[in-house]
Amino acid sequence: MSTRKTRSNEGSSAPTHVAIIMDGNGRWARARNLPRIEGHRAGFEAAREVVRTAGEIGVDFLTLYAFSVENWKRPIQEVNALMELLNSFVEETEADLVANEVRLKVIGRIADLPSALREKIDALILRTSQHRKLTLSLALSYSGRIEILTAVQRLACDVLNGRLRAEEIDETAFRHYLYTGEDPDPDLLIRTSGEMRLSNFLLWQISYSEIYFTDVLWPDFRREAFLRAVEEYGRRQRRFGRLEREEFE
Ligand code: IPE
Ligand code: IPE
Ligand code: MG
Repeated sequence: MSTRKTRSNEGSSAPTHVAIIMDGNGRWARARNLPRIEGHRAGFEAAREVVRTAGEIGVDFLTLYAFSVENWKRPIQEVNALMELLNSFVEETEADLVANEVRLKVIGRIADLPSALREKIDALILRTSQHRKLTLSLALSYSGRIEILTAVQRLACDVLNGRLRAEEIDETAFRHYLYTGEDPDPDLLIRTSGEMRLSNFLLWQISYSEIYFTDVLWPDFRREAFLRAVEEYGRRQRRFGRLEREEFE
């Protein structure tokens, strides 16, 4: 593995930050002649298992794409069912997060979420804010382009108010305005279900992430599948545009 990476868990083989596009719940359900919602229910189970596994192997940041801004365009019944399941996920995961010292964060347009769910999430964010073992970021009503535009709006205000000079806008200054703030960029991006696209996820942050696509449908992406992805990441050679020393000599 490259030694050039700046990582807080140097010495372990786990990536510092794993981001996952959890896709394929609907197809998982269809293959079993079940309603789509059952696929989502199984998907939340898989998410809980992956959170536990990430904590165990020393991942510091786990970002899960659970609901995109575009997903609001799905039929209202599915959207409502997903909000219900998110509500249960937050309730049922609370004990896990506390026991495993996981800090919860949410990235996305939180204001879009039903207020009861928002309140529950806010309470859990507060309750877990001192935890340091793993940061779990749930991407809810998330869009990478909207994240960048929101950052640009806030940055423009700061320039207008004299808090920032235009020539000070560099990558370090800009990232501070993103939902992800000072969190490190994902080392590994996983997408399940065989789709090979980014679907508007973390567009700024994944510029140098290793990407792992798998045909496994999200509800089947359990501990073993996650460990396989991490193992494959461990075999990747990250160059960040440079040459390896041997290639140069
Ligand atoms: C991912 O599963 C969950 C969400 C996008 C909310 P899908 O619901 O997209 O499942 P497929 O892609 O239809 O199989
Ligand atoms: C991406 O999955 C969003 C989430 C996993 C939450 P989608 O199923 O919504 O993506 P597309 O429509 O196939 O690109
Ligand atoms: Mg999908």
